[in-house]
Amino acid sequence: MRPLEYCNGVLKLVDQTKLPLEKKIVELSTYEEIADAIKKMTVRGAPAIGVTAVYGVVVAANSINTSSKDEFFEELKKACDLIKSTRPTAVNLFWAVDRVYNKAVSNKDKSIEQIREIIEAEARLMEKEDIESNRAIGKYGNELIKQNYTILTHCNAGALATCDYGTALGVIRAAHEAGKNISVFADETRPYLQGSRLTVWELMEDNIPVTLICDNMAGHFMKEGVIDCVIVGADRIALNGDTANKIGTYSLSVLAKENNIPFYVAAPISTIDFSIESGEQIPIEERNSEEVTHIKGIRIAPEGIKVRNPAFDVTPNKYITAIITDKGIIYPPYKENIIKLKEA
Ligand code: MRU
Repeated sequence: MRPLEYCNGVLKLVDQTKLPLEKKIVELSTYEEIADAIKKMTVRGAPAIGVTAVYGVVVAANSINTSSKDEFFEELKKACDLIKSTRPTAVNLFWAVDRVYNKAVSNKDKSIEQIREIIEAEARLMEKEDIESNRAIGKYGNELIKQNYTILTHCNAGALATCDYGTALGVIRAAHEAGKNISVFADETRPYLQGSRLTVWELMEDNIPVTLICDNMAGHFMKEGVIDCVIVGADRIALNGDTANKIGTYSLSVLAKENNIPFYVAAPISTIDFSIESGEQIPIEERNSEEVTHIKGIRIAPEGIKVRNPAFDVTPNKYITAIITDKGIIYPPYKENIIKLKEA
């Protein structure tokens, strides 16, 4: 299940705003369209945003019509800046665009045509690496999943949020593939409903047992002893392990602690922002009020109501039992162990 595919100058995206009722593919051939698709959440999820963004850079590089290298890099930088301005929280976006841009800059001595090829090769490599990372996360995470576990997840950290397989859902898929009799509780994830629209759909497609609950039911099921562990994805992890993820993740982590339930974050190393010490430095995206006041275009709240709509929250490291990465499982003390893993 791949949410994106680049071929002959066109980026095809599964339109995630339409799932599960409609499987629509949109075809984008300018970097402005690609930036817009990230902003509008046609594609979403930190790793998927990152790889979509680099294909945006590929398309931009191909469209810059000049024989002057200075002008080429000036235009390329402009495109990168526009793409990076779309969503502020997921660090993968910045990491991915900077990686491909720096790769181009380090090959400045080559011809413009060669630089274009290098950019595309790097984008394809990043797509492949993302899938490998998710498989590795699955392999490590599977060690934490016991027979007959019921796992609670939030938002969608699945194949749709990555290039394939998923992070949190990668762990779930790996446990299922290993023959463990597991089942999943999926939070619907208001306001954008990534849980009910995407996670549930993905798991049903793979015949993994899943039960849909409203976000405010999670505490009840934890207290009733139904949930054995929580696994969520991440949009940005600070050096001290504080983790930004979909709004509602923080509340789940507190509930998990209160009920003695392990709380795991599953994410590739590219989601760690080594430049920030703590979650306080993570910018939180605030999205438009219609996501809260409307469902599928239908108003559910009174006209004129004041709304807040932060798309993410930060879970303090003290609530996180472990971070499952593509390089291994990180336990507290996070800062020390994150640095060790980076250097390994
Ligand atoms: O607003 P979204 O749908 O892009 O938010 C997605 C999440 O919060 C995911 O949990 C996170 O990006 C990890 S995806 C593997």
